[in-house]
Amino acid sequence: MNVIETLAAHRTKRQFSTQAVTDAALNALVAAAQQMPTSQYLQAYSLIEITDPAKRAAVAKITTMPTVAANGRLLIVLADQHRNLALAPGADQRRALSEMDRFLGSVEDATLVTAALLLAAESQGLGSVVLGSINNDTQAVIDLLGLPELTLPVFGLQIGHPLDQPEKKPRLGLPAVLFKNTYQEPQTYQSELTAFDQRLHAYYQARSSHARDEHLAHMTNEALGSAARRRDFFKVARRQGFFPEATPTHN
Ligand SMILES: Cc1cc2nc3c(=O)[nH]c(=O)nc-3n(C[C@H](O)[C@H](O)[C@H](O)COP(=O)(O)O)c2cc1C
Repeated sequence: MNVIETLAAHRTKRQFSTQAVTDAALNALVAAAQQMPTSQYLQAYSLIEITDPAKRAAVAKITTMPTVAANGRLLIVLADQHRNLALAPGADQRRALSEMDRFLGSVEDATLVTAALLLAAESQGLGSVVLGSINNDTQAVIDLLGLPELTLPVFGLQIGHPLDQPEKKPRLGLPAVLFKNTYQEPQTYQSELTAFDQRLHAYYQARSSHARDEHLAHMTNEALGSAARRRDFFKVARRQGFFPEATPTHN
């Protein structure tokens, strides 16, 4: 499959068979994903594969997804300026690497490499799930993996041979996401939002598991419920050495 076909076929897979993803296959995916663009050519990310069953069970518990403990390969993607501090030690360098600009650079790098890894895996017939839910307890993940200063877990990524084939989730149409020259307020593409709400409703009614009567506004509100669990993220990032001069505004 080429990249456009791979994207068109995407759906998140959460159930994986016992069939192994070999080291050679995983290494090839990571090497491919490393060719993504990287901010200031700093490659400010690292991946930690979790093979220890006890650690894996602990991560699964944090995500609240038992399937995370079972089958497939489990990677934690880190924003990582620690390596760059080792390469460029010094007070000024530490300050630069800890400021918001390089913090964002490392999160951007981690995000791009995760996207590429997911696409590379799906192009080979594998399935994957991005796990933002590792940040239900960021400090616990830091402790579990022994993460040093100027690193932060961004996502988990589980890759395996998929057992499930969920229905494809619809996306917003182009009028809602592709603007020209200036920002478009949502009311200017209300007809697209209404049409998408209908597609979303039909998808949730027809899907084979957890079918329900769902609407866009309700779903958006529900999704925001996780914010309370992530409220200490900023505080944890500061504990890891990022933005030392910022004043914590939460907790
Ligand atoms: C940043 C990010 C974090 C995510 N975290 C989780 C997660 O913790 N658990 C999960 O089951 N899916 C997670 N997902 C997958 C989304 O739920 C999924 O992409 C979305 O519902 C759209 O479905 P689709 O990918 O099948 O099209 C995450 C996706 C992204 C981009």
